[in-house]
Amino acid sequence: MGTRQDDDPALYFSTHVFVCGNRRPEGHPRGCCASKGSEKIRDYMKARVKELGIKGVRINQAGCLDRCELGPCAVLYPEGVWYKLDSFAAADEVLEQHMIAGGRVKALMLP
Ligand code: FES
Repeated sequence: MGTRQDDDPALYFSTHVFVCGNRRPEGHPRGCCASKGSEKIRDYMKARVKELGIKGVRINQAGCLDRCELGPCAVLYPEGVWYKLDSFAAADEVLEQHMIAGGRVKALMLP
């Protein structure tokens, strides 16, 4: 696994969030995050980061992150922590407790 080296450039984003926006046809056995509302949650998170003036955070849409059954899911780097973001309230908790306070939202973390 790659690790950061002392002479690597500083992180460009303090937290880089990838929210799965993959959409599959209805009835697909794996389902998809988009059908569980991930696009709205991503947009909400983006707007909240702006409103709250949180610097150094980037919220991006990702393709399938291959944890479809557990979604809607997101992964935060550089921590490599995964969350199930299934509501605006969940997004707020991750914003406030993880990104601002530097803690973790254990109840929403994926194993
Ligand atoms: S559809 Fe979201 S992780 Fe695969």
